Amino acid sequence: MTTTMEAPPTLVGPGIDRVDGRLKVTGAARYPSDFSLPEMAYAALVRSTIAAGTIARLDTARAAVAPGVVAVITHENAGQLHKGRRNMVFPPPPPPLQDAKISYHGQYVAMVVAGTRQQAAAAARLVEVTYDRDEPALSPEDPAAKPRSNPYFINLKRGNVKEAMAKAAVTVEGTFTTSAQTHNPLGPFTTLAHWDGDTLTVYESTQNPFLVRAVLAASFGLAEEKVRVLSPFVGGGFGAGLRSWPHSILAALAARAVKRPVRLSLTRPEMFTGIGRRPSTVQHLKIAATRDGKLVAIDHEGTSTASMHSDSPYPITLATTMAYACPNVTARDKRVRLNIPPIAHMRAPFIAEGNFALESLLDELSYKLGMDPIELRLRNYAAVHPQTGLPWSSKALRECYEAGAERFGWAQREPAVGAMRDGRWLVGHGMAGVTFTHYQGKCQARATIRHDGTAHLSSGATDIGTGTYTVMTQLAAEVLGLKVNRVEFELGDTRLPRAPEAGGSGLTAALGSAVHNTCVALVQRFLAVVADDPDSPLRGCAIEDVVASDGRLTRGDDGSRGESYAEILQRHGLDELTADGDSAPPRADTGVLVGSLVVAGLGRFGRKLVGASHAAVPAGAYGARFAEVKVDPELGVLRITRIVSVTDGGRIVNEKLARSQLIGGTVGGIGMAMFEETVTDPGSGRVANATLGDYLVAVNADVPDIDVAFVGEPDPENPIGVKGIGEVGLVGVAAAIANGVYHATGRRIRSLPITISQLL
Ligand code: MOS
Repeated sequence: MTTTMEAPPTLVGPGIDRVDGRLKVTGAARYPSDFSLPEMAYAALVRSTIAAGTIARLDTARAAVAPGVVAVITHENAGQLHKGRRNMVFPPPPPPLQDAKISYHGQYVAMVVAGTRQQAAAAARLVEVTYDRDEPALSPEDPAAKPRSNPYFINLKRGNVKEAMAKAAVTVEGTFTTSAQTHNPLGPFTTLAHWDGDTLTVYESTQNPFLVRAVLAASFGLAEEKVRVLSPFVGGGFGAGLRSWPHSILAALAARAVKRPVRLSLTRPEMFTGIGRRPSTVQHLKIAATRDGKLVAIDHEGTSTASMHSDSPYPITLATTMAYACPNVTARDKRVRLNIPPIAHMRAPFIAEGNFALESLLDELSYKLGMDPIELRLRNYAAVHPQTGLPWSSKALRECYEAGAERFGWAQREPAVGAMRDGRWLVGHGMAGVTFTHYQGKCQARATIRHDGTAHLSSGATDIGTGTYTVMTQLAAEVLGLKVNRVEFELGDTRLPRAPEAGGSGLTAALGSAVHNTCVALVQRFLAVVADDPDSPLRGCAIEDVVASDGRLTRGDDGSRGESYAEILQRHGLDELTADGDSAPPRADTGVLVGSLVVAGLGRFGRKLVGASHAAVPAGAYGARFAEVKVDPELGVLRITRIVSVTDGGRIVNEKLARSQLIGGTVGGIGMAMFEETVTDPGSGRVANATLGDYLVAVNADVPDIDVAFVGEPDPENPIGVKGIGEVGLVGVAAAIANGVYHATGRRIRSLPITISQLL
């Protein structure tokens, strides 16, 4: 087994099965919509059928007398709800039902509460709403919609781009667009709200229980301790659960109004307007290089769409500022406000879109130079952080290219466009590099070893299907020297120690480090108990002097001398011992903004934020993606036949789960490349494809075998050596596919998703 203080033993840890696997396959795992409470009522929502304007008249009379209805709530009787505290990264949308103004199609205008879900839904259809309609702004091309500089995030100027561009031997440029997408977690977002006096409890679909708690507390003017958010299992999130949403407030409002617990589950169409979306983007990118492929200048402007109210920041050009060694870079982000539903981060937000443009245009440059695409990237390898000149905490992107090329058989690729065929199919090989980043928040945890020698760990984080329960159990078992089945991990409850969101690919680093530190503190507590104990073979030992394994602490200098946790507790008359611990992001001085992302992104502040005392820039994950595509030139049909995905994710705690995470990300990347698009009806602003029948996602028939591999080293920025791998798998897939399409057909795709009409 392992010592408590040893460096992580191997890069890739054992692929143990999910500790909650049995609960999930037997249906015993309870998701928010699985909870019921006595006397529970159900809420159903009425949504706006215009995108801009005001409610002229609301007639709730028929709904109010429909079978089973106990309340109809509109802006006329909802009462005042308070705005939450300012939150730059995940700003709460305005509280619902506060006035007659409409700013998007699908905005909630009324809520019906009834004895059954069916009664509530039937009565909701009886609410009559008439509107005074204004002309909505629905597209970035709309003259009424003006792009404004995005107040948060990238506006970087490095060197002199203008001069370098003017003098450069070779330039390439292009405008790239990506579509709006909708997170489609299988679990419908649900809030079950229950009041006990002025104490509010909610079962909630969220990746961010402490944010939901803060917003609910603010909405109803309560102290945060009066609100408890429970999310032991969440049926997927993809970023939709990072923000708080109006339906959660409405469920609590309904429960208060009818003095019964109320469950509100969003319908699938409501999921398309109620829990955020990936914004559509437009990017202008220009790259200049020498004839031998040295980048001399990059100019990147990214514009994302936003709703009329607060939205999460969207720094599309972030990775461009740090992915390659280029002396002259300008990068900036803009956004354009439209009458569309709120925006949210969706898996690998902004990085995925920025990567598509950058890696596509680099591919174009490689053809212009007659240079292998990997060679072009290697010639511009950012061995140090290009803005600060500081080394990365760890970086194995070169190894990603090498391992990927090897596994893919890149050497056998025929470089000329259209040179490879398989019968009637044109065959293309494309690749893309990936520079990712992760966000790490502050995190707390608690660990207890009980008299029977089993451990209980807890923290108020969520497991959105990524495997948090399992990986945290493994990390605790490793430090404490216990078998995995002797460790129980509890999460998903704001009464537990405070944890950050399951997002930004940062929870494993944050919570894993907190769990590690907490378990170390717990071992130290055991050693403190026996510090002066003449009967203990561990008397006087410091943590460096002991090895934890098989439920025992033994002396490092004499493996025959030691004792079990249970023996220590028993001899000292203790039922259990508990320790609290925490972890902080590598750059505490960067505050709540986005940790490493800020260091990397805010150019001129970069060095200041990194600080003179810091020797390295905390690195995120890196990757290389390789795709083999086949295109039928007569039918325009595109098939993906092979994908190789290599990632430097730092230490991989659980190889099986990490592989799953990368495969899932790749499938999302195929969706981004070929299928996913949330379509807004240009007249009404209605989402035109708000069902899983109409909104296309990649399914098994679209997904080939995916070869996943990991390279790199444990990252020294945290005690467990990890980087975030929750989202990086998606990044680079679209560019690798589009670059493969070019290689096969000579058609440069600059607009996602790639449709048949683009290939005919
Ligand atoms: Mo991810 S968009 O940080 O859940």
